[in-house]
Amino acid sequence: MSAAGDVPPMIRMAGVDKFFGPLHVLKGIDLEVPKGQVVVVLGPSGSGKSTLCRTINRLEPIDSGTIEVDGQPVPAEGKALARLRADVGMVFQSFNLFAHKTIVENVMLAPVKVRGVASAQARQNGMELLERVGIANQADKYPAQLSGGQQQRAAIARALNMKPKVMLFDEPTSALDPEVVNEVLDVMTSLARDGMTMLVVTHEMGFARRASDRVVFMADGEIVEDAATEEFFTAPRSERARDFLGKILSH
Ligand SMILES: Nc1ncnc2c1ncn2[C@@H]1O[C@H](COP(=O)(O)OP(=O)(O)OP(=O)(O)O)[C@@H](O)[C@H]1O
Ligand SMILES: [Mg+2]
Repeated sequence: MSAAGDVPPMIRMAGVDKFFGPLHVLKGIDLEVPKGQVVVVLGPSGSGKSTLCRTINRLEPIDSGTIEVDGQPVPAEGKALARLRADVGMVFQSFNLFAHKTIVENVMLAPVKVRGVASAQARQNGMELLERVGIANQADKYPAQLSGGQQQRAAIARALNMKPKVMLFDEPTSALDPEVVNEVLDVMTSLARDGMTMLVVTHEMGFARRASDRVVFMADGEIVEDAATEEFFTAPRSERARDFLGKILSH
């Protein structure tokens, strides 16, 4: 094995199949994401993008194949699974902040509960992260007092406060008003530049093109195309990807 081969990819999926009843939603997925890479997942609605994300931290169990995070098989349950989930940050379309806790309390919660970080330390780290995502001045407000873009930046800070090894984003801006989409994409772009390993499901083509290293295009539960970003956008190989890009870039 070569020296480079000794470093496991951050995410490794091999032969992954997933069914919902009779519906075969992930079909023999093989995907490796090296450390530090930013991968955008594109594809039509229902192609399996969210399901793919959710299998990585086992929010959805798989029917066959293997998934490893940083060289470790994803555990089925128990403390080992909780540890893995702590290493895999996830940000969804809906922010799911606790309504009755302030922003900084939301950001502190998991490190204290799951990682055993002292409360004062978790608060200090949390404040630094809120600073980084540009909402330190909102720390003592409640989620309902913030705009959607501010809440989503709080959700990103909350995920980062667990010091994850990898971040999964599933359409983090698709529920936001257009004028606040960019403030969230800017935070994600800066994370990408800082070397975070990221898997991002998004319809934001500008972000995809600017911030990702690689595009995975899915259709009907399969990876139809897996290419360097510039190559995907300038010379998509498959008819389905060309068709998808034609539709999405023309409006
Ligand atoms: N919990 C579930 N039970 C049954 N079927 C499901 C479930 N979740 C997803 N599906 C189905 O699995 C397929 C893949 O869904 P998934 O949500 O992964 O697609 P997606 O690519 O994320 O779509 P979108 O772009 O609309 O978010 C779809 O046919 C969907 O209807
Ligand atoms: Mg989805």
